[in-house]
Amino acid sequence: MCGIIGHVGNGDAIDTLLTGLENLEYRGYDSAGVAVQNGSGIEIQKRSGRVSELKASIEDRPLRGRVGIGHTRWSTHGPPTDENAHPHTDSTEDVAVVHNGIIENYAELKERLSARGHEFTSDTDTEVIPHLIQQYVDEGYGNEAAFRRAVEELEGSYAIAVMLSGEHTLYAARQGSPLVVGVEGEEFFLASDVPAFLEYTDTVAYLEDGDVAIVDPDGVEFTDLEGDSVDRDLETVDWDPEQTGKGEYDHFMLKEIDEQPTSLAQTIEGRIDPERGAIDLEGFEPGTFEDVSSVQLIACGTSYHAALYGSLVLNAAGVSARALLANEYSVCAPPVDEETLVIAVSQSGETADTLSALRQATEEGARTLTVTNVVGSTAARQADDSVLIRAGPEIGVAATKTFSSQAVVLELLAHRLTRDVVGETPYDLESYLPALARLPQQVDDVLEESDAERIARHYRDHESYFFIGRGLGYPVALEGALKFKEITYEHAEGFASGELKHGPLALVTPKTPVFAIFTGQEDERTLKNAEEASTRGAPVVAICPDGHRATEIADAHLEIPDTEPELAGLLANVQLQLVSYHAADLLGRPIDKPRNLAKSVTVE
Ligand code: G6P
Repeated sequence: MCGIIGHVGNGDAIDTLLTGLENLEYRGYDSAGVAVQNGSGIEIQKRSGRVSELKASIEDRPLRGRVGIGHTRWSTHGPPTDENAHPHTDSTEDVAVVHNGIIENYAELKERLSARGHEFTSDTDTEVIPHLIQQYVDEGYGNEAAFRRAVEELEGSYAIAVMLSGEHTLYAARQGSPLVVGVEGEEFFLASDVPAFLEYTDTVAYLEDGDVAIVDPDGVEFTDLEGDSVDRDLETVDWDPEQTGKGEYDHFMLKEIDEQPTSLAQTIEGRIDPERGAIDLEGFEPGTFEDVSSVQLIACGTSYHAALYGSLVLNAAGVSARALLANEYSVCAPPVDEETLVIAVSQSGETADTLSALRQATEEGARTLTVTNVVGSTAARQADDSVLIRAGPEIGVAATKTFSSQAVVLELLAHRLTRDVVGETPYDLESYLPALARLPQQVDDVLEESDAERIARHYRDHESYFFIGRGLGYPVALEGALKFKEITYEHAEGFASGELKHGPLALVTPKTPVFAIFTGQEDERTLKNAEEASTRGAPVVAICPDGHRATEIADAHLEIPDTEPELAGLLANVQLQLVSYHAADLLGRPIDKPRNLAKSVTVE
């Protein structure tokens, strides 16, 4: 959450900064601001609201400069006001800072600085940073030394970029929040995420925790906090800038839902061979997991639902596995030892709760593995091993294509794990592998023929929306409800279908549509639960293949093609993604940027 962009070069920084902020808006969209270095010092414009509002105000009052920093915010300390927007400065406005993360000792620093006459104008933790730097400058430190002294005193997590008046230099530091430098000839970029500057360069170097980067027109220098040089290799990222744009779509979410045939094809490419009956996850040879006795999967949000999906596949095949909410891990983690494999599932690889749980698992001696979409992300680097889901950039705050790719990667991993641990595979490979190879095409068929828009329209004026499923349909029910509530703001809940009668049935009325997911696992029992809701007057929408018995009792039908039970839920999920999308669109919601949420939550 929160996006940082920086630019040093010969061209005008403003365009780059605003483009970067637009590209980063999925990380936070409460307020935005930029600071540039012009002939007379630092000039800033910032305000609450979207980047488009900042852009309009800059059109009215143009800014110029070849060096600059920008920020888009997701509030943690203080509401989204103009004052709390970044960049923050000291009282003289000679130091400007953008920051992502949390400064845990800000209250103590603020008290100390206030006692020395510094006056604060915002509620943020960030504002202590420019004041601290200025304090050291006043005490006679040079700019770089003042920056380093100040950073040494910060506790918590941060990615910061700093500009001091009169210098064409950016100072940056990373501890716990991502930062990446982009290089294109004599132009340099700094950002919290690669898509920020992908239009300009695909050559990047990632900062590690404890790194400082000093960027000026002559180049980039990476050091540790003490100033000793560190090597950070330049890498080429293979994301295409077109992939990160909206193209002809009104919303990233719909674009990303529609991209699933491609993203799933990328996920499985070269990893399955239906003819040989083989699954080959690169780097995971037979025997890789023979010392594993149990598995814990840790994740948040949509990734948690994928983790739950993976745990159910493992359990069904005889490997003891549990999916755990990463934010609960510090208080509820079951014991681990060197035979425990802890799998962090995270689209971004930067979710603070997940990183913290991963750290805890490592400290307690577990073996770790990350399943992520982002090469070089913190979680990928922090774990012993990592597997990429290869879904391509996902910008919409509501995760869509990454859920289906995560679930598929976890199924592939489950094959290797169960082979190594119990000597078997969870699947009948003769039917499962051809079905998995067909999945991208089947998703395409669902997208082409879905009736989701009509159903969303039909049920738009109801009170609550329930989603039920059994077995692998259960995580899909949870994900269906999460998607629905996060983008429509309507009340939605997911339940294990058999649990409905143990409480939630009390809520069921003709105003509560029930979406029932049929995956081919104990469908008769799910059907009974759907009938129990229907008897109480609830409209039932069955998500199942054509000709399924559920269509006889249901009020509406969302069709999915016939497939294996391990894959049916993923097809059902595409239908539910479309229902949520269309319902939110009919309600006129800001689909890609739902209120109060952010794509990547980098605070605990
Ligand atoms: C945020 C997003 C969710 C996402 C969750 C986990 O809450 O709004 O869409 O599922 O973070 O993110 P991750 O990057 O770890 O998968």
